[in-house]
Amino acid sequence: MKLLVTGGCGFIGANFIRYWLEKYPQDNITNLDKLTYAANPENLMGLKAENYFMVSGDVSDSALVDKLVSENDMIINFAAETHVDNSIVSSRDFVVSNVLGVHSLLEAVRKYKKRFHQVSTDEVFGSLKLDESERFNETTRYNPKNPYSATKACADHLVNAYYNTYDIPVTISNCGNNYGRYQNKEKFIPKVILNALNDVPIPVYGSGINIRDWIYVEDHCSALESILIKGKVGETYMIGTGYEKRNIDIVKEILKRLGKPESLIQFVRDRPGHDLRYATDASKIRRELGWTPSYTFEQGLDQTIKWYRNTVK
Ligand SMILES: NC(=O)c1ccc[n+]([C@@H]2O[C@H](COP(=O)([O-])OP(=O)(O)OC[C@H]3O[C@@H](n4cnc5c(N)ncnc54)[C@H](O)[C@@H]3O)[C@@H](O)[C@H]2O)c1
Repeated sequence: MKLLVTGGCGFIGANFIRYWLEKYPQDNITNLDKLTYAANPENLMGLKAENYFMVSGDVSDSALVDKLVSENDMIINFAAETHVDNSIVSSRDFVVSNVLGVHSLLEAVRKYKKRFHQVSTDEVFGSLKLDESERFNETTRYNPKNPYSATKACADHLVNAYYNTYDIPVTISNCGNNYGRYQNKEKFIPKVILNALNDVPIPVYGSGINIRDWIYVEDHCSALESILIKGKVGETYMIGTGYEKRNIDIVKEILKRLGKPESLIQFVRDRPGHDLRYATDASKIRRELGWTPSYTFEQGLDQTIKWYRNTVK
């Protein structure tokens, strides 16, 4: 099998490439990445040139994408601008990479009829109330609330529209918040760990009551593997664990594990339009594809703290 992985120098893409090549060393992976500030090619250091190949380029470059899609059997798209705060400051790059990029991939996929998977987020469904028990599922109405999630929603709609119109072999997954090795320092859990290790104040938006559904990145990779191998074409799958945590509780948990004082917590002005709660109902992927997460939140957190402590300064 020849896989084209886009955005493989980022957090989840790098974990996915390592996960896949460890399990399927006979396969070949081509990684197309624009090498934005969020990319770190060192995440993939040590992979063998005989089955891993890196191409520096943009998913919105139709000619390049056409060539790479034609040469591979399966395409999995991680490439995106991903930081919500950046999308609030300026969203043009988000539209280009997250929407036009997916469009150029879909055009090539349509031409060559290749298997395509779009890695999406639960943020496309907007915000749940803090005090309700409802969770997002595959029939939840799209209702994105910030420029990042709007571009991801647009991409999902394009994928579904191409399936409906051109009958191409596509799937989509909407996953909750990931944590684990290789995540950019700008993101919540790495920032908390690194600030705590360096005794630097830890900024927490608002009063820290926002809730996210957290998944250890390796569990996301195994869910994507299940979809690529067993998923039904044209379907969407929610990916999540049900480990719903308030931001403030995560900060306190990390501080406790590192033996650092809660006085490092510094509440800052809330993010504009900050979604209150995300929660995914992953019963479809569990029931139909037999996927289950392998890590509890605490096990994943221990692994993550260990990695940042040993690897990142
Ligand atoms: N991180 C999460 O918690 C999470 C949750 C659900 C879904 N997702 C989705 O998973 C995917 C990967 O997320 P991540 O956290 O690993 O992101 P990331 O920001 O760590 O990495 C994104 C990668 O995409 C590359 N990239 C950006 N624009 C590109 C372009 N135009 N052409 C080629 N490469 C480009 C970057 O250089 C980077 O290597 C994204 O699509 C994101 O929406 C992320």
